[in-house]
Amino acid sequence: MKRYTYAAPCLMGVEKLLSNELKFMGAENVCAENGRVIFTGDLSMLARANIRSRIAERVLLLTARFEAYSFEQLFQRVKAINWSEYLDPNAKFPVSGSCLSSKLMSVPDCQAIIKKAIVESLKTVYKKDIFPENGAEYKIKFLILKDQVSIMLDTSGRPLHKRGYRAESNDAPMKETLAAALCELSRVRSNHIVIDPCCGSGTILIEAAMKALNLPPNLHGHFAAEEWRFIPKSIWDDERTLAESEIRRDVTFHAYGYDIDDNALAISKRNAQFAGVADFITFEHRDLADFKEDFERATVICNPPYGERLLDVSQAEDLYRIMGKVFVKKQGWSYTVICPDDDFQKCFGRSADKRRKLYNGTLSCQAYIYYK
Ligand SMILES: C[S@@+](CC[C@H](N)C(=O)[O-])C[C@H]1O[C@@H](n2cnc3c(N)ncnc32)[C@H](O)[C@@H]1O
Repeated sequence: MKRYTYAAPCLMGVEKLLSNELKFMGAENVCAENGRVIFTGDLSMLARANIRSRIAERVLLLTARFEAYSFEQLFQRVKAINWSEYLDPNAKFPVSGSCLSSKLMSVPDCQAIIKKAIVESLKTVYKKDIFPENGAEYKIKFLILKDQVSIMLDTSGRPLHKRGYRAESNDAPMKETLAAALCELSRVRSNHIVIDPCCGSGTILIEAAMKALNLPPNLHGHFAAEEWRFIPKSIWDDERTLAESEIRRDVTFHAYGYDIDDNALAISKRNAQFAGVADFITFEHRDLADFKEDFERATVICNPPYGERLLDVSQAEDLYRIMGKVFVKKQGWSYTVICPDDDFQKCFGRSADKRRKLYNGTLSCQAYIYYK
């Protein structure tokens, strides 16, 4: 089967985790860049990454990569791509993208030039001048970074973090992809007890449960590329059937979610039901100060309120001090806390065994990991 090159954008800081995830799925030539991972594979890989990736924001088919310093170069290189290989004569192909630290910095001009170049390329093959754009949608994305141009087709068509289970959320929900990355960093397994003592709408625990059960996050999602002519429908059916057959419900995994906000707990329960993991998570009203568990081993993952968002800084720091007291150092236990406060470790009272810089939305954070 023909091989294609793909680009999977992701949150900054999770590139390595996404690379490992994609390699595990069978991706080849995996290469992490800033904010995205490049890889190769056949069309089944495209479907698999969309259905199974917990960390990628989208899966883009990279049609070309080149340097351009002028609009003419951009036009000629885009025109040289054989667009009829991808786009049918009725294809709708909106173009959008971004320019960063490059000679070509006008997004609207680049957009117009790329569109015109694609039309010119299609004209030579389809022998017509007008393209009605009333068929399937092929979103064209471009990225011009330090004069390096990437021209891509958005195979997902929607952000993959929108799994569909979070119909409702509380005040400061975390992106599902970030929650999944925290589960990866905390090495959640199918025999683990996972606890989130400030669970909000339950995102971290739902992602942990889906990982433990090997439940693909977008098994029932619909992707733009399912409407594309050059991808046989059987590829999607086969990948879904295979992914479904690998779901495991016979696991010993269980998660516990606590919060002081009853509304958040009600939302969590509903979200867990939508995600199909309600049997594996127990939600309960409990204050962090009363955190105490007798499990022999457990994985604690926590996204507490930050000074910037739900509490003022001194209230948030009081909470970090409480964490330092109740998150007792014990063999078999690990604690992961994501937080933007530079004084977190000081308040917590211990230096983390491992730290990882991550972004929660636009907020620069650290994941502080304690496991020794
Ligand atoms: C940033 S939100 C968590 C968001 C969650 N990760 C999600 O995706 O929805 C922090 C949560 O901590 C809860 N919280 C605040 N103080 C708490 C305390 N003392 N004990 C337990 N939960 C608390 C808040 O009610 C809020 O739901």
